[in-house]
Amino acid sequence: MAERDSKLDARTAGTAVATNGTVLEKPVYDPNAPSAIEVEHIVKKFGDFAAVDDVSFTVKEGEIFGLLGPNGAGKSTLIRMMTTLIPITSGAGRIAGHDVAREPNAVRRLIGVIPQALTSDLDLTVEENMSIYAKLYDVPAKDREKSIDELLELVDLTKWRDAQTKTLSGGMRRRLEIARGLVHHPRIFFLDEPTTGLDPVSRVAVWEMLGNIKEHRRLTILITTHYMDEADRLCDRIAIVDHGKLVALDTPMALKASVPGSNVIEVQFENPAADWEQRLHMLDDVTSVQHEGAGMYRVLTGNGSRTTTELVEMAVTAGVPVKSLSVQNTTLDDVFVHYTGRQLRDELQKAYGFVMPQRPGLQP
Ligand SMILES: Nc1ncnc2c1ncn2[C@@H]1O[C@H](COP(=O)(O)OP(=O)(O)OP(=O)(O)O)[C@@H](O)[C@H]1O
Ligand SMILES: [Mg+2]
Repeated sequence: MAERDSKLDARTAGTAVATNGTVLEKPVYDPNAPSAIEVEHIVKKFGDFAAVDDVSFTVKEGEIFGLLGPNGAGKSTLIRMMTTLIPITSGAGRIAGHDVAREPNAVRRLIGVIPQALTSDLDLTVEENMSIYAKLYDVPAKDREKSIDELLELVDLTKWRDAQTKTLSGGMRRRLEIARGLVHHPRIFFLDEPTTGLDPVSRVAVWEMLGNIKEHRRLTILITTHYMDEADRLCDRIAIVDHGKLVALDTPMALKASVPGSNVIEVQFENPAADWEQRLHMLDDVTSVQHEGAGMYRVLTGNGSRTTTELVEMAVTAGVPVKSLSVQNTTLDDVFVHYTGRQLRDELQKAYGFVMPQRPGLQP
């Protein structure tokens, strides 16, 4: 945790500081670095419906940039436009200075793309999946083997190279696809929800692997996710998108700092009074209160310890038992609520009310 905090502190200062306190030369987010991805007032319409609605941002070389948003926010549509798969309705996109609409071939040579759906061939071995891609991208024969060896090592699949892909777990298959997407040495890497559907252990393995890869190959990464913790941990900067629009963009630290209140108290009461939400609001330093049902409240405050004391005193005086209570720092969840007025996890629960069963052979 201490390690994580020092990294984040360094991000706000705009300078990277190693955990031992040494100042590193390269800033984590360098506004003066050349632009790798430029999105300028991009719109995508399907009929009258704007799936992406006037979105603009720039990703600098070497950044890990996150697009964070609920289902249907327009994340995949934006990636599909920027990777030349679907036409842009209006606005412009550039990859390392090349216009996406006018120079699609130049763009395709510079990018690697991992689409949201799994696309590796189940009947081929790990190595065969890699080498077909290498041939497809015209990687010279003498470089192919070296590139495949290096990538399988990076994603920790060396000992699975002769295994049939259908015998891999979902997480391993994702790692194979990430390795495959890098076999032609792209400079800019698009990953669409690489960890959705993975168990927590596999998700962490994919995060670690991406950090590893970024250190080995000087890559710019644009990644979409709806996992707040993932965006927070992985990304140098995050754009929050909702209903096709960009609602906030900054470093994870700055986004969290932009939400009024520095602590979140999650508290559950037994049979609170009807006006309990308003009464919580009246406590000192409280900036917002959300009733989450079943006596559960999420209270944002500028002073966690003082509000906790006052809140417990209020409950004792009113004879309302406190069933549970936790105090945390603000998270990106709170940032999402602040900018959209909704909880991201509610949006996801709605969308995942029905989940398709996994195909056999893909179980972790
Ligand atoms: N080909 C299409 N025709 C019509 N509507 C589309 C098409 N593709 C996407 N949409 C709509 O555009 C919106 C954005 O979809 P998109 O797939 O980009 O969202 P997303 O942010 O990637 O969501 P998810 O997290 O579910 O992958 C959705 O409302 C979707 O239904
Ligand atoms: Mg998507």
